[in-house]
Amino acid sequence: MYQPASTNNSPMLEAQSLTKRYEDGVLGLDHVSFSVSAGQVYAMLGANGAGKTTTINLFLNFIEPTEGEARIAGFATHREPLEAKARVAFVSENVMLYPQFTALQNVDYFARLGGKTEYTKDDYRRVLLRVGLQEEAHHKRLKGFSKGMRQKCGIAIAILKDAPAILLDEPTSGLDPKAGFEFMQLLHSLREEGKAILMSTHDIFRAKEVADTVGIMKQGQLVMQRTHAELAGENLEELYMHYMAGHVEAA
Ligand SMILES: Nc1ncnc2c1ncn2[C@@H]1O[C@H](COP(=O)(O)OP(=O)(O)O)[C@@H](O)[C@H]1O
Ligand SMILES: [Mg+2]
Repeated sequence: MYQPASTNNSPMLEAQSLTKRYEDGVLGLDHVSFSVSAGQVYAMLGANGAGKTTTINLFLNFIEPTEGEARIAGFATHREPLEAKARVAFVSENVMLYPQFTALQNVDYFARLGGKTEYTKDDYRRVLLRVGLQEEAHHKRLKGFSKGMRQKCGIAIAILKDAPAILLDEPTSGLDPKAGFEFMQLLHSLREEGKAILMSTHDIFRAKEVADTVGIMKQGQLVMQRTHAELAGENLEELYMHYMAGHVEAA
């Protein structure tokens, strides 16, 4: 398997032999290793049930590894959860925000909940504009928002956390093409800022476009990992199908 060239940066996110066997015996993740440095995007592809969310949940310490570890800035998430959690922001597939609160109120509430009390109204205004929420939406309740708009709020909250690592579980699922495009622009700018970004996605084309490294997962294993440069002349969709077919042949 491809090993990424060593960079000067020590990895911000690191999975080392990361393994999760659930209580019912299902092997959700099977000795997966990869790393993401500052200023890099790592995209996980794979069918439903491949282990993408399990990987993210292990980084968030929502679940404990059976073997191996997930590290954030060098801190093993299950052994040093507070150190690790302080350095990561998470945007979930279904952003859980308060529908009765306005966009501004949500952003303010969650920023404070995360211990950030120094932000001003103007900071909130600027971050909401940055993620693409127009001024007139700032004072509207979230219950009237589209999924794309709710997600923009979720990303604004993640940005305000000011963490060096960002995890996103299927951030583009259910977004219309314009919202998907805007999301990718935002991802680019966060990457430029030096964030280490780990995301799961079903969007092969966008993964190829934005990711520094693409990993394909299948039945809990990382079956392919390639850098942006290595994928330059490749048809990632064909590669993906190739690895999916491999599973059928092996079965
Ligand atoms: N809480 C759980 N208990 C038992 N098995 C689980 C649990 N969560 C996920 N799994 C299993 O682990 C495997 C990986 O799931 P998941 O990480 O959710 O995949 P993905 O996000 O790639 O769709 C699947 O077989 C799934 O059924
Ligand atoms: Mg999932």
